[in-house]
Amino acid sequence: HIPVFRTLAALRRWRRDARDRDLDVGCVPTMGALHEGHLSLVKTSLKRHPFTVMTLFVNPMQFAPHEDLSAYPRTFERDMDSLRSLLPTGPESPIHGLGISEYDGRPSPRSQRQAADSPLVVFAPTADVMYPLRGELQDMSRRKGASIEVRGWGEVMEGASRPQFFTGVATVVTKLFNAVEPDHAYFGQKDIQQALLLKIMLTDLLVSHPTSDNLHILPTRRDPETGLALSSRNAYLSPAEKKVAPTLARALEAGRAAWSSGATGEAIIEAATAVVKAEEERLKTSGEDVDLRLDYFEVFEKDTFTPVRGVPATGQLAIAGAMFVGKTRLIDNLLLGWE
Ligand code: PAJ
Repeated sequence: HIPVFRTLAALRRWRRDARDRDLDVGCVPTMGALHEGHLSLVKTSLKRHPFTVMTLFVNPMQFAPHEDLSAYPRTFERDMDSLRSLLPTGPESPIHGLGISEYDGRPSPRSQRQAADSPLVVFAPTADVMYPLRGELQDMSRRKGASIEVRGWGEVMEGASRPQFFTGVATVVTKLFNAVEPDHAYFGQKDIQQALLLKIMLTDLLVSHPTSDNLHILPTRRDPETGLALSSRNAYLSPAEKKVAPTLARALEAGRAAWSSGATGEAIIEAATAVVKAEEERLKTSGEDVDLRLDYFEVFEKDTFTPVRGVPATGQLAIAGAMFVGKTRLIDNLLLGWE
């Protein structure tokens, strides 16, 4: 039922049609391996706008050569099933009875009509479409071509741990926005630094589709029992590791509790770190074979990414952290004092 565009020409033909009809387009960029977190973004966009484009592209440029690009889960058919389950299927639905259609060649009038009526379309380009100069995409010292760097904001926290990550993200999201020209875009709080950094990028580069105000950040979806933030990377965890992974969310909660009782930035980080240390101890004494390693915790001001030291001035803060469970790197965060 859901049209899949693999080329720029096909996407742009569809986009022109939506513009001619003066209908708003929402956009949800993803790397696939969809879970409820991704789907919640799509659902919100579907509710708010007549059209939604979900982009599905595993972006090589945001993975360093030693990172997990080739292992990253690719589950296209299952992703399409999940998306289909979001749409009405009754005979009254305008899209009832339309098969999946690929629009690579010249579209027939019928396929164009189908695409024009579907509230949800998927843009799943190949690397050649997203990076027409081809060339090196992972080893930045050898890459030629244009890239977007967000200095300052892109160099701390996740950017300190993964130096090429935000340049890869900012570059590909700029390309995706240039391709889709969405009126609105939806990102998850799960990757809070990514979402805030992209807002800053849109402001600084005077981007109009979408404007910074129209980049919306929606709440993190979690496992209801353990609090573990949903993530495509959770698929890497063994059953034993999966039991340990919620430590990150628990640690952030401890940090938030410390913040509520007026702790300094340092004490908030200490409270979170203590939870991870305690879990490490427990693993050691129980002899469980799970490797837990804290990467960082940071408390920071949302608008400037300035680390909070001493007692925080009231304002919009967040506590964010990253932790390795075995080889898998997990991230999570909580907002402090804002929705
Ligand atoms: P990906 O990890 O696939 O995430 C796509 C979007 O889903 C992001 O905005 C992310 O924050 C959101 N998301 C992930 N887990 C979530 C959860 N548990 N609850 C709510 N939202 C969640 O982030 C990327 O892809 C890429 O960096 C991308 C922006 C697509 C650029 O390549």
